[in-house]
Amino acid sequence: MENVTSKGAKHQAFIAQAEEALKANKATMDKTFRLHYHMMPPAGWMNDPNGLIHWQGDYHLFYQHDPFQAKQGPMHWGHARSRDLVHWDHLPVALAPSEDYDKGGNGGQGCWSGSAVDHNGQLTLIYTGHVDGKNPEEVQCLATSADGVTFEKHAANPVIGGSPDEERFGFRDPKVWRHEDLWYMVVGYGKDGLGKGIIYTSSDLMNWEYRGAAVESDGTMGDMWECPDLFPLGEGGQHALLISPMNIAPIKNLYLSGTFDYESCRFEKQQMGQIDYGFDFYAPQTLLDDQGRRIMIAWMNIWGAVMPEQAHGWLGAMMLPRELTLAADGTVRSNPVPELATLRGAHVSASGITLVDGEPTAIDNVQGDSLELAIVFDLSQSDASELGLRIRCSEDGSSYTEIRYAIAGQKLYMDRNLGGAGDGGVSEASLAPSEDGRLQLRLFIDRSSVELFAGEGLVAITNRLYPDPANVGISFFARQGTAVIESLDAWELKPIW
Ligand code: FRU
Repeated sequence: MENVTSKGAKHQAFIAQAEEALKANKATMDKTFRLHYHMMPPAGWMNDPNGLIHWQGDYHLFYQHDPFQAKQGPMHWGHARSRDLVHWDHLPVALAPSEDYDKGGNGGQGCWSGSAVDHNGQLTLIYTGHVDGKNPEEVQCLATSADGVTFEKHAANPVIGGSPDEERFGFRDPKVWRHEDLWYMVVGYGKDGLGKGIIYTSSDLMNWEYRGAAVESDGTMGDMWECPDLFPLGEGGQHALLISPMNIAPIKNLYLSGTFDYESCRFEKQQMGQIDYGFDFYAPQTLLDDQGRRIMIAWMNIWGAVMPEQAHGWLGAMMLPRELTLAADGTVRSNPVPELATLRGAHVSASGITLVDGEPTAIDNVQGDSLELAIVFDLSQSDASELGLRIRCSEDGSSYTEIRYAIAGQKLYMDRNLGGAGDGGVSEASLAPSEDGRLQLRLFIDRSSVELFAGEGLVAITNRLYPDPANVGISFFARQGTAVIESLDAWELKPIW
């Protein structure tokens, strides 16, 4: 049997190969759709955020990664670090599939998603070892690091060697947190057509006791819950559970808010909803930072989409970090972290602009592909049926992505059917104007993405867009009447790369 040191050396040899591949792939990558201020892999493929943690003063973001190619293969954990949630440094690949329990399948294999905790000063990763065609094919594993850069897989792996029941549809993506003197783990699970978040507890991260399902689908919430994250949110001891449910398209993300009983390990749902209504938002994970903020990051892509950047030697981005809060009515709100204001450069502001049906209105110096926009429409002075804006417009007006609000129907839409390469489709969300009759929109436009926020964080729509890079126009419109922009602020955002 191999001893621990030679196993460690073997793992590091796999990582060295991954780093070599990344170096070569970076050199040949086409940067047309690379983003200016979003986290992306240096090259190759990226999906879920993993192991989010604020550790010894730094934010760590690990991610599902194939350094060898721009498609999903044997999964590694890529690694980036940030002081401010805005600027990211790439660190060496943290985990490579190197052991029987995380490599060697017929195709699907690797170090799949998981989380991170601090355990006695060690940065400790808890991940799923996945080997297709093996029984059991999903097991839970540990890796540790003293310096937060080089990780060693635990000799006792897997620490959970099989699921509670052999007959199940998935058993992966452990999210671990500490409550009083126990570790709690929620794992994504599916059985008999029902997605579930199942709970294990441990006093040492090594020996785990199965405690049953905290909560499961009522039959309408998907047949497997990927990437569950369960955490306290709000002042009153409430909890929220984020899930990425499978097979209830078009819905790809849900939150449940309610209470979690640490004795029985049961979750009582009080509210449920979507965090984001866009096409490109999946597998959100959160961390608690040293200011007590609950910060969420999600993958800004979706399985099965047309992904034009794949042909360019890379795939995947993370959405901008958001702070989660719980409103009095139990809804979970998400808003971009205030640190993003440090990206702001040239500023344009305007006010009191009347939009007239049939007259698309551009505003001087408001255009670009790396922008933040804050727009306030005064609906009390608007008699249009719809109002909104087009972004990433071509000179001839034939290509654009449209954001519109239907006043009577109280619906917000993002229509990318003429948006360029990639998938089309219309995202939509219900949204009432604020009590003072205003509609406030906040947009973050980055070369191949847009994130839209409205309703004080109640609604977010995140989509990837692949327009011709020359298409940077923005124009505002009203339909069947007039509408008034009370104020508009636009900032150019500086690149982080
Ligand atoms: C979610 C997911 C996880 C899995 C990982 C594999 O996007 O399917 O359930 O652990 O991706 O890369």
